[in-house]
Amino acid sequence: MAETNRILPEHIGIIMDGNGRWAKKRGLPRMAGHRAGANNFRTITRYCNKIGIKYLTVYAFSTENWSRPKEEVDALMRLLYDYLQEALRDFREENIRTRFIGDVTALQPVLQQLIAETEELSADRTGLTLNIAMNYGGRAEMVRAAQMLARRVQQGQLAPEDIDEAMLSASMYTAGQSDPDLIIRPSGEYRTSNFMLWQSAYSEYVFMDDILWPDFTEEDLERAIDIFNSRSRRFGGTVAK
Ligand code: IPE
Ligand code: IPE
Ligand code: MG
Repeated sequence: MAETNRILPEHIGIIMDGNGRWAKKRGLPRMAGHRAGANNFRTITRYCNKIGIKYLTVYAFSTENWSRPKEEVDALMRLLYDYLQEALRDFREENIRTRFIGDVTALQPVLQQLIAETEELSADRTGLTLNIAMNYGGRAEMVRAAQMLARRVQQGQLAPEDIDEAMLSASMYTAGQSDPDLIIRPSGEYRTSNFMLWQSAYSEYVFMDDILWPDFTEEDLERAIDIFNSRSRRFGGTVAK
């Protein structure tokens, strides 16, 4: 069990990886892994809300995931569609607010419509804020931020030397949110795969190589929070904060 005097991360990021390998291990099609992963996402999201996490960002589909076989991409989009149908009702009782980060304009219009409805419907909820990273890439997000600021410079609203880190942060999809304190990646891959590059400057990474995302439990989340608590965060200084 976790200690009672532990520090709870305000913002957790999860790279939901290992669905394909989970399915392969069972002799199932990759899609079965994605389905199991999507179900688990609901469980872990509810748990984060229950224990009082303020922001949860989950990596669902990267800007690079378009390079997968068309059948897999199509199946993932169908899964998102099914999820969104439910999401309109889902998480209401839990008071969870759902947002999407990434370029959703590249998705099918019907998905974009459902995303807009889901965000609107949950906008005033005061529990956990869930960011679903869909067609998200950290580099693409920075390019978008640069373009937004360049436009303001071009329009004479901003001088180049006025651009600072706070302004960049405010130009990211996560504007107004704290940076992730803890980023968890199951499945044994030790890389960011383009996840929250700007926001993760001082995130604590916990790579869990003994678990694949569909099997990731509430206990695994607690384990990651315990590891987070064992870290000394100095932010470039000499004293742990
Ligand atoms: C993560 O699982 C889900 C998505 C990227 C959509 P993977 O599909 O990457 O699973 P592995 O890495 O092949 O096991
Ligand atoms: C990262 O996982 C993206 C998501 C989990 C959505 P990938 O499986 O796509 O990353 P790589 O290819 O192993 O780096
Ligand atoms: Mg993977």
